[in-house]
Amino acid sequence: MNQRKITIAIDGFSACGKSTLAKDLAKRLNYVFIDSGAMYRAAALYCLNHQLIQNGVLEKEAINAQLKQMAIHFEVIDQELHIFLNGSDVSDAIRQPEVAGIVSIVAAYKPIREKLVEAQQKMGEKGGIVMDGRDIGSVVFPNAELKLFVTADPEIRVQRRLAEMKAKGILMNRDEVRENLAERDHLDSTREESPLIQVADALVLDNSHLSKEEQLEWVLQKVALLVAN
Ligand code: DC
Repeated sequence: MNQRKITIAIDGFSACGKSTLAKDLAKRLNYVFIDSGAMYRAAALYCLNHQLIQNGVLEKEAINAQLKQMAIHFEVIDQELHIFLNGSDVSDAIRQPEVAGIVSIVAAYKPIREKLVEAQQKMGEKGGIVMDGRDIGSVVFPNAELKLFVTADPEIRVQRRLAEMKAKGILMNRDEVRENLAERDHLDSTREESPLIQVADALVLDNSHLSKEEQLEWVLQKVALLVAN
């Protein structure tokens, strides 16, 4: 039987394991997975490459003039989601500390958000999508059938981000990671444009003490109930 394909919106602070959950869910459900944070990171990389940010300040006029030329798209290669910026695979480059250091500033700029949100909504037009980010349940897919707000203990998040960076060969100092996460959380949740909020109809998932498998099963049960109705 062909099951109804729903839209799943996952929001939460940095390094809460949102993308891992979204990726696992999409694989089990045979849905499309989109990491919207990767798009903001690619936009930040574009700004770095084109000197559109100087000392943490955006060159807004130049960004407005160039925005049409910034092309971001995804491709699945060997079952992994890769992100491309103007034709180049930047999946690794967007994880560098230089990008993490400025991405929240870039993501707070309205014209950039408008461009990326439009692309995200297009990707989700047909349902059958799991997207993670900060404004997915509030702005991108306000009608999503399932909205999750993922949280985890701050120190556990620092630990997870350190391990993730180490696996990519990027060695970072614990205090640096803690500071970067705290700063990004603050900027992401206090900005004027689409701040990170927990919408009223989101289910809260605190995964501090859950394994990858446990959190996946928890969500799959919610999905099963939704698609059965
Ligand atoms: O999920 P992430 O850490 O890769 O996200 C990178 C940055 O992009 C983060 O500082 C918040 C921002 N972001 C956003 O503003 N809206 C989204 N939908 C996703 C990410």
